[in-house]
Order: sequence, then structure tokens, then C-alpha cells
Amino acid sequence: MSTVGKAGLEDVVVSTSEICFIDGREGKLLYRGFDVDDLAEHSTFEETVFLLWQGHLPSKKELADHQKALATNRKISPKVLAALRLLPKKTTPMEVLRTGVSMLSSYDPDAADNSHEASVRKATRLTAQMPTLVAAWERIRRGKPPIAPNPRLSLAANFLYMMTGKKPSELEARTFDIALILHADHEFNASTFAARVTAATLSDMHSAVVSGIGALKGPLHGGANEQVMLMVEKIKNPLDAESFVRKNLADKGFRIMGFGHRVYRVEDPRAKHLRRLAFEVGKQRGDTSKAEMINTIARVVTEVKKIYPNVDLFSGAAYASMSLPTDQFTPIFAMSRVAGWAAHVLEQHSNNRLIRPRSEYTGAMRASYVPLDRR
Ligand code: ACO
Repeated sequence: MSTVGKAGLEDVVVSTSEICFIDGREGKLLYRGFDVDDLAEHSTFEETVFLLWQGHLPSKKELADHQKALATNRKISPKVLAALRLLPKKTTPMEVLRTGVSMLSSYDPDAADNSHEASVRKATRLTAQMPTLVAAWERIRRGKPPIAPNPRLSLAANFLYMMTGKKPSELEARTFDIALILHADHEFNASTFAARVTAATLSDMHSAVVSGIGALKGPLHGGANEQVMLMVEKIKNPLDAESFVRKNLADKGFRIMGFGHRVYRVEDPRAKHLRRLAFEVGKQRGDTSKAEMINTIARVVTEVKKIYPNVDLFSGAAYASMSLPTDQFTPIFAMSRVAGWAAHVLEQHSNNRLIRPRSEYTGAMRASYVPLDRR
């Protein structure tokens, strides 16, 4: 009899963790015991990063030091920028991020040091520098010079500034900050698991983050936010949204991106925040058509398929309202999730054992080798 569990490790509990709790039936998500709804309302991304890494809310002094470290480590080596300029302009932002993060380790003074203190310093630099990488590539591929980071701005506001050259409105900066909070961690999702598997070989923070980026890229995971917006662009007219969804859902194999989840059986608790923010930013810009279209899609999909929106459904509408390019949505996800990946690498290294599962072999046995000239 087969000993293999359900495909895709569904419901397999592989480890204990103190970082993140999900109740998939009630639609609850906690970081270190704090409800993500409260964090979205009251916290900042910088404070949430501290919470994920250190396990408690910071004191004023701790937060000030942490914010300063995140703000003053944003610059990346000119040599990394020079290397980015050598990449073909058609390279997708997610590929650039994967390559860029790998290059950053060559310039990190702690690269080879896996002590807890060095790993926190590396996590700080990565969290500070990934937005710079993402924004630099946006400028380079448009033939413009990258904009130097402004340490006086929050991580969220500075990213929007480096992308556009304009300081964002307060609403845009706060919307983006909340989006970063909501994407920061999510238990043993595919990219975090990939990061932990890499860390468990006693590999380093940068390698684990590169693994996470590679896993996040796929359309079944973080890549879904980009696919949602491509679907919206394909539908074009909001009046066609309902018929598009009904027609496609009739095809059994068709996947509507931004819906369904391995863990949630109800709407993803992050989706309601992103829905509200997509409408708010759209209103400020005078165009809520994308948010409205996605809302229609959500109503029809839930009615027909009984599957619910996940985090990727509305984030794109909010980002699109801020004129962020569609193929940057997944790198933006990674800029936030690096906080969670790093927290999990620190936890993995604090009590490490190699992660090495087994497979049940179903291939041939006792095949006899035939020399090449007799085949
Ligand atoms: N569109 C249409 N049908 C769907 C969808 C969807 N988005 N999601 C699930 N289903 C259906 C499947 O067809 C299947 O139906 P069946 O039992 O009749 O065959 C059933 O729901 C279960 O689906 P599975 O693929 O077995 O569920 P799984 O847990 O493996 O997949 C996943 C979860 C990958 C997220 C899936 O829901 C999906 O492909 N969603 C679209 C991609 C997406 O939005 N990914 C982002 C997830 S959130 C994140 O990673 C940040």
C-alpha cells in the first residue's frame, strides 16, 4: 500500500513554528500572535518586520534603531547597477530581482557568516535593498537613470518615489505600506518552505531568499497577482467581466487567478483590506473601473465555483491605480515577503535539522544496462 500522503504535501505538518498562524476555516491570520487586521490598521511595515524577526513589538528606541538600519542600508553597489545595465531590456523584473539578490551577496560584508547577528544584518540589508533593485531596473529598462533612495522616507514611500521620481500622496504611501504588511508572512507557503529547505542545509540568507524568489515567481503562488491584471486587461470592458468568467469557468480545467487557496476555505483575510485600498486609491485617481471589474469577477466566481478571493486578487488593482507596471507586482510581493523568509531562516537556523523527505519509487527495477553500440 502506498505511504504517499495527499499530492502537494496537502495538510502535512512539517515543523513547529512560532512565527505565523493561519485558521483556514475562520479566515484568521496572526503574525507572532497579532491579528493581521490590527497590524494593517495600526502598524507600519518596518514595525511588522521587527515583530516577525524579534518576536515582540519594539520599544520606541528599538523601532527607531530598526527604522534607521532599514533606511540607511538602501543603497546598492554601483557595480550591481552596472551589472543590471548589461541585462537584456526584455528581462522580466522577477528574473532581474532573482539575479540582483544573488549579486548583492557578493557585496555583503557578512555573506559567509551564518551567526544569528550576521543573519539579522543580512536580512536588514536585503529588506532595505530589494526595493532599490526593483526600482532601479524599472528606470534602467526605460532608459532612465536610477533614483537614489531617500532615507527620510518610509520604506513604502521611498519605493514609490524611486519608481516614479515623485513623492507619493499620503494615501498612496499608506496603501502601499499596508500592502507590504499584509504580504509579509504566511506560514509554510511554497516560497517560505523553499527558503527553509535551503537554509536547512546551513546555506546562507541570500541563497535562501533567492530560493524564495524562484518559488514565488510561479503563477500558482505570487505570480498570480500579475495574471489577475492581465486578465482584467484582456476583458477590457467591465460589462464583459461576468460573461468572461461564466464562459471560462464552464471549462473544467480553467483557473481564475486570484482565487482559491490551499489553506483558506473562506475569503483570505487579507483580501478585504486590499479590496478597500484598491477602491480608495482608485477614487483618489478618479478611476475605480479595475477595482469594480475585479469585484464583479469575485462575485461571479464565488457564486459559480464556491471558491474565494485570495491575497493576489485585489493587490494588482491597488498597484495599477498607483501606475505601477503589471510585471512589477510579483517583485513587489517579494519586497515584502523577504521579511517572512528571513524570519523563517532565522528560526530554521536556531534549531536546525536538514530537511530531506523521501519519495516512493514507482520506476523500473533491475533494468539491465545495454552498451550504446547495441541499442
Ligand atoms: N479557478 C478555478 N478553479 C479553481 C481555482 C481557481 N483559481 N482554484 C481551485 N479551483 C478548483 C480546482 O479546479 C479544483 O476543483 P476540482 O476538485 O473540481 O478539480 C478545486 O478547486 C481544488 O483545487 P486544487 O488545485 O486541488 O487546490 P490546491 O490547494 O492544490 O491549489 C491554488 C491552490 C494553487 C492556490 C489554486 O487555488 C489556484 O490555482 N489558484 C489560482 C492561482 C492563485 O491565485 N494563486 C495564488 C494563491 S495565494 C498565494 O500564493 C500568495
